[in-house]
Amino acid sequence: MKMESTMVQCGTAQLSAIVVVAQDGAIGRDGGLLCHLPADLKHFKNLTMGHSIVMGRRTFESFPKGALPGRQNIVITRNRNYHPDGVTVVHSIDKALQAAMMPGDIFIIGGAQIYAETFDMVQTLHLTRLHATFDEADAFFPTIDPDEWQELDCERHEADERNPYDYDFVTLKRKFSF
Ligand SMILES: NC(=O)c1ccc[n+]([C@@H]2O[C@H](COP(=O)([O-])OP(=O)(O)OC[C@H]3O[C@@H](n4cnc5c(N)ncnc54)[C@H](OP(=O)(O)O)[C@@H]3O)[C@@H](O)[C@H]2O)c1
Repeated sequence: MKMESTMVQCGTAQLSAIVVVAQDGAIGRDGGLLCHLPADLKHFKNLTMGHSIVMGRRTFESFPKGALPGRQNIVITRNRNYHPDGVTVVHSIDKALQAAMMPGDIFIIGGAQIYAETFDMVQTLHLTRLHATFDEADAFFPTIDPDEWQELDCERHEADERNPYDYDFVTLKRKFSF
């Protein structure tokens, strides 16, 4: 059992990750999401509005309309010549956390590389757990060890005419942090 985690120093802000994850840990395929789930888009907007969101360059480029409004969009890339409109561009995870200007939690919003690189620093996970698997998935979330995380909340939802799968909104808090 892992007994410690890295404490993130970004003012008073805590680091959270927010992700839609299938039963096998899958989060994406072909550079896009696994499915269209309007209820999750609303949930994501409610949680992240007014905050800083941190993402990899590939996730940013998957957005159909560019930067997400009402939030500070922080995009991580190694490309020094990357300057899309409406975003804060940084070249490392550390710089991303230092660049966050909005109040409250900093949200890691993906994709697979950025989730993996920040996972040990994250204190809260906002999961949308899909009751489904997707054979063609090629992007995955890190393994969540139940010994390390406490479930604070779980809101269950059944599929409906707009949302094709059963899903849960789950909040997990890291058990050990210093
Ligand atoms: N299910 C969900 O909730 C969810 C959420 C977000 C994304 N996704 C999915 O995840 C997939 C994308 O994930 P991905 O892993 O391919 O890409 P990603 O994590 O979004 O972005 C990877 C890119 O970030 C940059 N990067 C990563 N680590 C860096 C570092 N330490 N320093 C500087 N730059 C760094 C690099 O950009 P450069 O190549 O420009 O240097 C790298 O190519 C898509 O399928 C997407 O739909 C799913």
